This record gives sequence, C-alpha cells and structure tokens, in this order.
Amino acid sequence: MTEDRIGLLGMGAYLPSRVVTNSDWAQWVDTTDEWITTRTGIAERRFAADDESTADLAVQAARAALDDAGIDAETLDEIIVATDTPEVYTPDTSAFVQHRLGARQIPAYDLGGSGCAGFLQALDVARSRARETERRVLVIGVEVLSRVMSLTDRTTCVLFGDGAGAVVIGRGAQAAEILVAVTGTDGSRADILGIETGGTRRPFSPVESPTGRLEITMRGQQVFKEAVRRMSAAAREAVERAGLTLDDVDLLVPHQANLRIIDAVGKALAFPAEKVCVNVRDVGNTGSASVPIALAQAHEQGRIQPGNLVLLTSFGAGFHWGAVLIRF
Ligand code: UT7
Repeated sequence: MTEDRIGLLGMGAYLPSRVVTNSDWAQWVDTTDEWITTRTGIAERRFAADDESTADLAVQAARAALDDAGIDAETLDEIIVATDTPEVYTPDTSAFVQHRLGARQIPAYDLGGSGCAGFLQALDVARSRARETERRVLVIGVEVLSRVMSLTDRTTCVLFGDGAGAVVIGRGAQAAEILVAVTGTDGSRADILGIETGGTRRPFSPVESPTGRLEITMRGQQVFKEAVRRMSAAAREAVERAGLTLDDVDLLVPHQANLRIIDAVGKALAFPAEKVCVNVRDVGNTGSASVPIALAQAHEQGRIQPGNLVLLTSFGAGFHWGAVLIRF
C-alpha cells in the first residue's frame, strides 16, 4: 500500500477575459511593441473587467483547483490567500473567499506584502499545517495589479497583468508530494520594489498619492539582479536539501516576471531551456498568481507526468524569495 503523502491534491487557474496588447500600451504611454517584447518577452496580459475584483478571480481559481482535486469546498480546513492587491484594506480577501466558496467557518487568512513570492511562502506554511494538523488547506495566489500600477510610468505599467492560481494541499496517496520548501527574506532590500503609500508611514492622501491611485514603484535593474541571484540560489538549495541534483528536475516553473530574468536563471543554473515553463508572453507578471497559473497550465497541457520532479522558484518585494520541490 502506498504511504500517504503531503502535497498537492489539485490545482487550477483563472485569467480574466480582457486582453491588453503591447500595441494598446503603445497608444497610452511612450513605448513600443518592439521595446516591450525585446526587454521583457511580454506580448500581452489580462486585465480584470471593471466589475471584477480580487475575490472574484480568487474564487474562480479556487473552484478550478477544488474540481481538479475532486473535493467539495465544505471539506476544506483552512484557506490562505497570497495577495498584494486585496479585495479591501480590512478584512482580508480570504474572508470573502471563505464565504463565497461556501466553506465551513474555518481559519482563513491572507499572506500579504510579499509581492510575487507570497504564493510560495503560503505553500510552505500550508505544507506545515497539513503535516502538523492533518488539515486540507486551500492556497490561492491572486492579483489585480492593473489597479495598483502607475498608468503613466512606462517602466512599470507594461509589465503587469491580473490573474489567479490555486492549489489544494493535504494528505493523500495520489498527492504530488512537496519534498522541500525553501523561503527567505532580506529586508535591507525593502526599498527596491513596493507600493509605498497607503500605510502608516505615508497614509493615502492627495499629497502622498497625487494620482489618486496606489502605485508600484521599483528600481528595475536592481530588482532584476536580485531576482536572478535569489531565484537561482533558492532553486539550488531546494534540490540539495532533497539530496538531489538539478539534473533530476523535469520542469522548472520560475516566477514569470520577465523572459530575460527567466533566461538568466536558466543560465545561472545551467538548466536546459526546454525544461523551463514560460507563459510570460501571454500573461505578463501576475505577482503572487504567477507561479500557480504557470503550474496549472503546464499540468493541463500534459507537461507534468506522474513521477516528474517539478521545481518552483520565485522572488518578490521585501525582498522575499522561495523554492518548492514537488514530486508528482
Ligand atoms: O515581480 C517583480 C517586478 N519587477 C520586475 O521583475 C522588474 C525587473 N526589472 C526588469 O524587468 C527590467 O529592469 C525592466 C524591464 C523594468 C527594464 O529593462 P532594462 O533593460 O533594465 O531597461 P532600463 O531600465 O535600463 O531602461 C533602458 C531604456 C531607458 O531609456 P534611456 O535612459 O536609455 O534613454 C528607459 O527610459 O529604456 C527606457 N524604457 C522604455 N522605453 C520604451 C523604460 N521603459 C520603457 C518602455 N518603453 N516601456
């Protein structure tokens, strides 16, 4: 008899239907399709409809993951939502998701502020919770970044998109086992990427936020370098801790921030390009939703087979990073 494993019982993703192309951005800011394509590898991204908000996207992805796992929301024991673009400031998005899914009155909480690394941090927490408490945990990565970008800063706005991805973590003979989770933080780099207004240091006001929007700011080249360094180091650490090598890995699913960052990580790891999952061309950078969307799409496309070793790696504002190694 197969011993039960702690891991992924199902996964799913949701992308809003509105497509925004590079040509659209070229009409709105001083940019070109050629610049965006060559510097980022992004051709298009999805934006939430005006009447869609974070919980709508999260619930769609959660339902897809629950369907994939073949379980009902009533059997969930815990919900974690990783997002930097919450439904409202307080309460957290997970409260709306718990209610909308029809889940029992279980613990539900957000993991916010970790930027694009939030989903992998949440996965690390969920794995421990499932192991220690036998709980079945729904983990969602979701962003509506189109509502927190400067619509005039061409160095940031062209990068981001909206979307959601989800997984159900628990015990089961068929679970895709989480072998290792590595996460880390270097707060000395907190100033290179973030949303600086809206907190207690710089409350949202006409002075601090003259455009009337929360806006992502970043030092692009510094973020680029940290991203490559941290994602490759975390990926290496994860396989080493599992007593394996990168040659054993069948598919690398990196955070989809920029094709050049993905290529640089592949190069730093001497990892074959054909074993790297890339969807940044079609969805842009969807923050904490990026890795679970790419994972769910790769699974749906049949790129992940039973027995495969899949390595997830990400980085985000904080500076936070993570890598998770999964045996399907
Ligand atoms: O999830 C984490 C989120 N953030 C990231 O992942 C960002 C990481 N960083 C990057 O991906 C890259 O640094 C960028 C894509 C943001 C920028 O690419 P780059 O190769 O580092 O360009 P750069 O900042 O060195 O800018 C080169 C030129 C500049 O013009 P000058 O000074 O050489 O005349 C920019 O003003 O490109 C200009 N530029 C643009 N031109 C057309 C910057 N953005 C644009 C644009 N269209 N959208």
